[in-house]
Amino acid sequence: MTKAPLRVTITGAAGQIGYALLPRIASGQMFGPDQPVILQLLEIPVEKVMTALNGVAMELEDCAFPLLQDMVLTSEPDVAFKDANWCLLVGSKPRGPGMERGDLIRENGPIFTGQGRAINDHAASDVRVAVVGNPCNTNCLIAMNSAPDIPDERFSAMTRLDQNRAQAQLAAKAGVHTSAVKNTLIWGNHSATQVPDFVHATINGKSAAEVINDNDWLTTTFFETVQKRGAAIIAARGLSSAASAANGLIDHVRDLCNATPDGEWRSVCVKSDGSYGVPEGLISSFPVRADGKGGWEIVQGLELTPFLAEKLALSAAELSGERETVSGLLT
Ligand code: NAD
Ligand code: LMR
Repeated sequence: MTKAPLRVTITGAAGQIGYALLPRIASGQMFGPDQPVILQLLEIPVEKVMTALNGVAMELEDCAFPLLQDMVLTSEPDVAFKDANWCLLVGSKPRGPGMERGDLIRENGPIFTGQGRAINDHAASDVRVAVVGNPCNTNCLIAMNSAPDIPDERFSAMTRLDQNRAQAQLAAKAGVHTSAVKNTLIWGNHSATQVPDFVHATINGKSAAEVINDNDWLTTTFFETVQKRGAAIIAARGLSSAASAANGLIDHVRDLCNATPDGEWRSVCVKSDGSYGVPEGLISSFPVRADGKGGWEIVQGLELTPFLAEKLALSAAELSGERETVSGLLT
């Protein structure tokens, strides 16, 4: 029997990430090859941007995707989030060279109050929200706080791109295919203070740290390459990551919808319950396992080395500072 279509709202749909993301959702890569979708595309009410959005929709039409049932193009959040089952909050300003993601907070933060409220008032009762727009952890916090009727656990922000970056770096160093590397993990903020964990990752089932056997490389080159990869992409492309960001979001949502394989986890930014010393209520990246029924849990009991614990405390302190900065937006 054909499944009922999922309504998927994508904000900033005419932007770079939107362009890389939409065909992948419409072709079934996010929700599966038998799941029809209706794409609800939100952009800002600027003629040039809405015209560009129309062009993107024309291209999607021209793909004749079997799973794409309909599209809604709008600059009205209330329309875009109407009955939405998934809201992918991408729309916001990207940073330029020399900026940190946190520098965007005053400009981008307010977007997430209005959108959080519109999701609260108009989305489907099972709505789930994934935030990509930077600084994504704190923007997620703002959206979550602006949607008091929606359970907090429905909100997440994306460090899956960082996880994938870490996986690729470990594979390259060990001279193995990326598929041999499992359980790479990011703790903390999606920022230059993020904590790429090399202690719990495995390569062909063995400890990655033991296989690589180069603590200096792990604690300096690996660590900093992952932390600063977004800036390196901006320096090289003149624009922030888009194809890899869209890919990260496909992985993020797909893996939150499906049960995580035994013994594995994924990096997901979720509301802290105080685990691993991250202050309660912050949106921080943790090892997360999904149950395949819409639920998830933070994996407990991983031992943090003093090096990783110290770095995580710094990242959590940065998140606390961001929360303080936007306190006026938290209702
Ligand atoms: P972009 O400038 O190409 O596109 C952003 C789009 O958002 C634009 O079309 C703009 O008109 C739209 N927009 C702005 N405000 C909006 C609003 N209030 N409602 C709806 N749409 C709005 O940028 P991009 O490269 O697509 O990046 C988007 C965001 O994603 C940036 O904040 C970027 O830093 C972030 N990002 C996050 C990650 C991550 O891993 N979390 C990775 C890459 C990029
Ligand atoms: C990334 O990690 O590539 C994005 O967050 C974009 C950025 O500003 O680095």
